Amino acid sequence: MKVFLIGFMGAGKTTFGKKLAKNLNYPFFDLDHLIEEITGGTVGEYFATHGEIKFRELEKDILQTHPFPENYVLSTGGGAPCFHDNMDWMNKNGQTIYLQLSPKALATRLENAKEQRPLIKDLKGDDLIKFIEERLEARDIHYKKAHFIVDGLNVHPEIIANLISKN
Ligand code: S3P
Repeated sequence: MKVFLIGFMGAGKTTFGKKLAKNLNYPFFDLDHLIEEITGGTVGEYFATHGEIKFRELEKDILQTHPFPENYVLSTGGGAPCFHDNMDWMNKNGQTIYLQLSPKALATRLENAKEQRPLIKDLKGDDLIKFIEERLEARDIHYKKAHFIVDGLNVHPEIIANLISKN
């Protein structure tokens, strides 16, 4: 089975993904890290050199054509479900889990973790919250297509593992 974790930047997809993969005894992958391995640079560098449109093409290609094993847990970047046909593709090919958090909770987490995130690295305080609120509103339509929507502040790997293996 393929398990996809989706949600906004700072939702905890990578941290939770690792725990879930361990629980399911599946290998864990992180889409941004794969992009960095393949390009040999950071996501920030890729954005700066090639721009967001090219980044979204690469992100889609890796998500949909990388030679992953049969079973795996993949944490996706916050924008991945919102570009191309990625969300429908993930829903068709595996189980999708949306880690949902409020803009305020996301802002608190992101305030100290912005450097490697090109979309927010220059924002702070009210500007950061405003950006998150607007982006989240636009992205929610995609995120809410997930098979499971869970509270990102109160999520347990064993409960999610149980939920998806029954599906
Ligand atoms: C992005 C989220 C990032 C990364 C890129 C763009 C986004 O991933 O893919 O900076 O558009 O929300 P994380 O959600 O892992 O921070």
